[in-house]
Amino acid sequence: MRTQVAIIGAGPAGLLLGQLLYKSGIDAVIIEQRSPDYVLGRIRAGVLEQVSMDLLDQAGVGARAHAEGLPHDGIELLFKGQRHRIDLHELTGGSRVTVYGQTEVTRDLMDARAAEGLTTVYDAQNVQVHDFEGQSPRVTYQKDGQTHELACDFIAGCDGYHGVCRASAPADLLKTYERVYPFGWLGVLADVPPVSHELIYANTERGFALCSMRSATRSRYYVQVPNTDKIENWTIDQFWAELGNRLDPEARANLVTGPALEMSIAPLRSFVAEPMRFGRMFLAGDAAHIVPPTGAKGLNLAASDVGYLWTALTEFYTEKSAVGIDTCSDRCLRRVWRAERFSWWFTSLMHRFPETGEFGQKIQEAELDYLVNSRAASVSLAENYVGLPMNFGT
Ligand code: FAD
Ligand code: DHB
Repeated sequence: MRTQVAIIGAGPAGLLLGQLLYKSGIDAVIIEQRSPDYVLGRIRAGVLEQVSMDLLDQAGVGARAHAEGLPHDGIELLFKGQRHRIDLHELTGGSRVTVYGQTEVTRDLMDARAAEGLTTVYDAQNVQVHDFEGQSPRVTYQKDGQTHELACDFIAGCDGYHGVCRASAPADLLKTYERVYPFGWLGVLADVPPVSHELIYANTERGFALCSMRSATRSRYYVQVPNTDKIENWTIDQFWAELGNRLDPEARANLVTGPALEMSIAPLRSFVAEPMRFGRMFLAGDAAHIVPPTGAKGLNLAASDVGYLWTALTEFYTEKSAVGIDTCSDRCLRRVWRAERFSWWFTSLMHRFPETGEFGQKIQEAELDYLVNSRAASVSLAENYVGLPMNFGT
């Protein structure tokens, strides 16, 4: 088999890239190690920046996100028992975010790909990337007991944090930066109405909590737990009790409990791999970087990486220019590090750190007090939360 771009991984990054390339008339095949049901079963992010919505539109798959996604013009910060609204829309001169689950984004992209009859190989085993340092890269994999080879011009490594692409990059060219946090998020998805119509980010002496949603009848909640904690240690009733303990009296009174559709613990980490290009192989999304989820940036960064890569590959094929592919890694990394900074800062501000004690809590409360009362500080939070433009600072 031969294609122009071999995409490894059918998560949001790989699927979005496939759809954008298709719109530009560039042929791509996606190789995914899991089944379609497994890919759709993963419950992850929920907040889309305008930049991501625009890319979904450009890929021709934005209709359902516009129709069913919930536009959010503000978020609330809860600290010292009181909620304070950050008016994202007013502070940014008209920007907002859209609450629309990653599962739905993935479903829309999978449906569009199937409707166009584009090739995705699911359940591919032992995927390997070869010869990307030269002009003729190859991908090999096993399926149904046979070895297959895919020849291509470029490889797009959209295979997530544990994927094969970054692991195949020459060690002497790869530099990684990492911070692991001493806590994770215990998340619950439940068919209960949200406590409030906007997201609540809570800093409490018991630790961080987040009230989010997927619709008017489906809620997504998280509480900070030690990174040594195990999901077996929690029942859903204990979760509801702990969440209630971290909310203000009004939100607690509004909290409707019910059985969990999904309940899991995700560790928090910051991670960046540089560069994001190795010859004719590019990394995009979680394959190249991880942010702690507090700023809701993981999925959005995957989308913007893909946006830069799509532009670069389109320039290469239609204008015969290598300028885009030569500058793509630097452009991605500039945006990545801005989102890494924001996610690290918001995580540091909102979570309880075991080592900083009561002094740390007081400092956080003072910063939050400044944040909600200073327009300059509120604007800084708001413009980062809604997402900086793709060409910010250029
Ligand atoms: P992925 O979604 O990881 O997709 C990679 C794909 O590659 C997968 O389908 C995988 O099966 C496939 N793959 C892996 N290895 C191979 C291989 N060797 N060969 C072929 N295919 C391979 N972000 C937020 O903003 N908010 C959140 O609340 C949030 N929660 C999260 C919870 C969890 C448990 C995780 C893991 C992430 C969460 N994120 C969250 C981050 C967000 O979901 C990711 O940033 C986003 O999924 C990145 O998309 P991606 O396509 O780059 O990677
Ligand atoms: C969700 C996840 C986040 O990390 C976040 O900051 C906001 C919302 C969510 O899953 O809905």
